[in-house]
Amino acid sequence: MPEKRTPIIIGCDHAAYDLKEKVKLFLIEIGIDVEDVGCHNEGSVDYPDFGIKVASMVSAGKFERGILMCGTGIGMSMVANKFPHVRAALCTDLFSSIMSKRHNNSNILVLGARVIGDILAVEIVKAWLETPFEGGRHQRRLDKFDRIDTAITD
Ligand code: RB5
Repeated sequence: MPEKRTPIIIGCDHAAYDLKEKVKLFLIEIGIDVEDVGCHNEGSVDYPDFGIKVASMVSAGKFERGILMCGTGIGMSMVANKFPHVRAALCTDLFSSIMSKRHNNSNILVLGARVIGDILAVEIVKAWLETPFEGGRHQRRLDKFDRIDTAITD
């Protein structure tokens, strides 16, 4: 069971529309409120539009966590990690998903619908939801992320 039930904002492009629907269903089934920013069908769209919608909300603290999906997951993770306070983790296996929470406290999980199957994707989501952040020395390391934003804006 997930350690908490805070709402999740999700988004995808056309390549991951099917997977997004499955992930959404899973989240709803386990009692998590889902904000789905699209896309809402398989028509071709540009992944940055949806990555920006999700990552900007997480960056602004409007949502604590999000899930992004595209064909490889690469484009979505590139877009998401441009936003301050976003720690987006592209995961293709359970170990990475678990460690992205334990050590990196990832706040956006990214999935590649053309890379992994639906069943593995949902297992990755489940592991991500269930795994807590370890804090301690890992928090110290994450604190250093803030210096990147400061360095860029100085
Ligand atoms: C769309 O064809 C594809 O480029 C996109 O889903 C994603 O894989 C980009 O990184």
